[in-house]
Amino acid sequence: MPDLATRYLGLDLRSPLVASCSPLTGRLDTLRRLDDAGVGAVVLPSLFEEQIEQEELEIERMLTTGSDAFGEASSFFPELADYNTGPDRYLTLLEGAKAALGVPVVASLNGATVGGWLRYAHLLEQAGADAIELNAYQVAADPRRSGAELEDELVDLVGSVVGSVGVPVAVKLSPYWSSLAHLAVRLDRAGAAGLVLFNRFYQPDLDLNTFRAVPHLVLSTSQELRLPVRWIGLLAGRVGCSLAATSGVHTFEDVAKALLAGADVTMMASALLQHGPEYLRDLQESLHWWMEDNGYDSVAQLRGSAAQLTGPDPSGFERANYAQTLASFSTQIPEVP
Ligand SMILES: Cc1cc2nc3c(=O)[nH]c(=O)nc-3n(C[C@H](O)[C@H](O)[C@H](O)COP(=O)(O)O)c2cc1C
Repeated sequence: MPDLATRYLGLDLRSPLVASCSPLTGRLDTLRRLDDAGVGAVVLPSLFEEQIEQEELEIERMLTTGSDAFGEASSFFPELADYNTGPDRYLTLLEGAKAALGVPVVASLNGATVGGWLRYAHLLEQAGADAIELNAYQVAADPRRSGAELEDELVDLVGSVVGSVGVPVAVKLSPYWSSLAHLAVRLDRAGAAGLVLFNRFYQPDLDLNTFRAVPHLVLSTSQELRLPVRWIGLLAGRVGCSLAATSGVHTFEDVAKALLAGADVTMMASALLQHGPEYLRDLQESLHWWMEDNGYDSVAQLRGSAAQLTGPDPSGFERANYAQTLASFSTQIPEVP
């Protein structure tokens, strides 16, 4: 039977099928089911700095209101001040996951300030995270800030976090950087142990009744995998760090494509939310079968065999096939209505 073992962020995983951040990785019962179904590693949902600050502000307000209203009962407040604020719930989940699971547990962090990123990364490490994934989710909407400035900021931030924790640090990127290959190399040099490609942006919708932009979460489809596969294919062998494919991994074919392009692991959220954690078993079985059928003994052998640097068709990942793609489409149209 083909060997599915892989290495990701310097960690040994039994399988390249990883559960990325989603509500399924935010609960111990579903985390256990993922583990039982053969997951290679799990990434807990992101700890958002804004959420923590919000919680802390609310507790602060509660304390202030309470002290004003019940001055005579102030002895009660020191206890309240120790109340579980901020990241405590997250750290409890992380500790629980570490105790309950046999696979690596990656904690995800979405900071808002440099101090926040460092402070919480440190707490995640202390709580036992095997690695930390930095969720660099940012909409570059400020016209005064250049791409170069934003890149520098991210590279500095990653360098600071890497320098302040002892566990490996992965960076989950969006595809909206102007020179992604350059940024990837800089992040690699700054010490990132892995790049997670790509964060999926949830575009707001416009509500025609209220005329407001409203959040609208739609699960992915396999179609979305092409973007991560292209970029993993381009980056494999050009960066020393691990590469994870996320966005659009649904079927065993998707997993095979991402590995062929050079991914060390494939991450899933939508497919697992749709089919449940046990779907991993079907995927694993089909992947075994596909590898056997195609003469692959191991993921190590399969990984990157179709990447740009090592594969049979380097031009396929770049502009060279643009005209060809357009031309091939026009021959498929039977008749213009
Ligand atoms: C309901 C839901 C919650 C998510 N929460 C997070 C999160 O907290 N942090 C994060 O980095 N990604 C989060 N994601 C993104 C997923 O981890 C994943 O990168 C994205 O959905 C693309 O993968 P998919 O095509 O397998 O869904 C979330 C996705 C879903 C559907």
